[in-house]
Amino acid sequence: MAAIIQLKPITDVPSQRRASADPRDPAFFQNPYAFYDRLHAESPVFFWEQYGHWCFASFKDVSALLRDKRFGREILHVATREELGMPAPQPHTAAFDLTEQHSLLNLEPPAHTRLRTLVNRAFVSRHVEQLRPRIIRLANEMIDSFEGEECVDLIKAFAAPIPAIIIAEMIGLPAESAPQLLAWSNRMVAMYMFGVSRATELDANQAAQDFMDFLAATIAERRKQPREDLLSHMLTSDRGGDRLSDAEVMSTAILLLNAGHEATVHTTGNGVKAILESGIDPVTLFSTPEQTEATVEECLRFDAPLHLFTRYALSDLDYAGISLRKGDVVGLMLGAANRDPLRFADANRFDPFRGDGANVSFGAGIHFCIGAPLARIELQVAFSELFRRLPKLRLAEASRYNDVYHFHGLEKLMVRWD
Ligand code: HEM
Repeated sequence: MAAIIQLKPITDVPSQRRASADPRDPAFFQNPYAFYDRLHAESPVFFWEQYGHWCFASFKDVSALLRDKRFGREILHVATREELGMPAPQPHTAAFDLTEQHSLLNLEPPAHTRLRTLVNRAFVSRHVEQLRPRIIRLANEMIDSFEGEECVDLIKAFAAPIPAIIIAEMIGLPAESAPQLLAWSNRMVAMYMFGVSRATELDANQAAQDFMDFLAATIAERRKQPREDLLSHMLTSDRGGDRLSDAEVMSTAILLLNAGHEATVHTTGNGVKAILESGIDPVTLFSTPEQTEATVEECLRFDAPLHLFTRYALSDLDYAGISLRKGDVVGLMLGAANRDPLRFADANRFDPFRGDGANVSFGAGIHFCIGAPLARIELQVAFSELFRRLPKLRLAEASRYNDVYHFHGLEKLMVRWD
């Protein structure tokens, strides 16, 4: 079934370009690329009726807006709720809101610069590169655990546990807590679904509260007895007398745990699916470290795990012929930008040998993904070990994407290797 997509009316007047596509329509979120093709052909800047704000689909605009200092992820540092007509915070999501309050993703300079500087060191390439042997071991343990079976859901058995265990261990939480962390994280991420229900909000709030209680206990232990882990590092790191508060440490740990696995799990699933559907011999995809890197980049580009991020206009301004008021939201369509035919030759083709694969899946500008070097290593290892150990891997049944348009990932990925 095709998604109901309407672009209307197509006109030369930018301020009149509108589009309608329901993000909860299964036909839409199973294949948003049909919509993107029409946007690129007809109207890459448009007012998305269901979201009620302007959106940008071209690579040029998305890259420029991610870097444009006139836009930010936060607005309440330059305007009040009353000024913007924003509703007051809801008591039934108070715990969830607390976890978001000090999140790097919700801050702008100078608060963002301060927090990012204090945690950045742990995520630079040369530091995370040391984790590669551990990730290789883990990937092989996962394959050992299901290799004897006939058919497996690769998301559950392989894609999900690896990044969850790695980020848990980095922070200083035991690998055994990973399934619980995943469960909390999944319930919290449901808050980003379009048209979220009150039941989902209550559930996400409870998950946030339980997550914070768990972390508070661990923080108290680390205060007494620091270890060589990120939690202890965050509690003790000091720049000219400036330290992170417990609330900041908690928000950052939750952000890292949530951001640290969700998108990587989806990229692993989407990437394996793309490789298997392409019919390309996997041996050629991981023949050298350079080709492995290029294959990972193409997986990130071709079927990005995160499709839509928003920014606030921090002042009244004009962009691409659109007049925006301070506080207006704009949508940056990363998944669409990665398929822009003006930027990529044969954009809808999965081609791990292309030379123009640099994409916006990790964002750009000051919020550029802090975990990108780690995610790249996890993906390089996961793909290359999987296809080395199971060269006959193939799809066992058609797969379906989750009903969370922004987080574009598979519900399950059934595979066989006999
Ligand atoms: C394939 C995997 C991943 C993808 C595609 C991805 C994508 C992104 C994107 C697009 C942003 C920027 C959002 C915006 O500009 O609004 C972001 C930010 C962030 N990511 Fe990732 N991410 C991935 C993995 C990770 C991992 C493994 C970690 C942590 C270990 C992580 C931690 C973060 C954090 C903390 C931020 C916020 C940075 C800031 O606001 O300064 N991500 N990520």
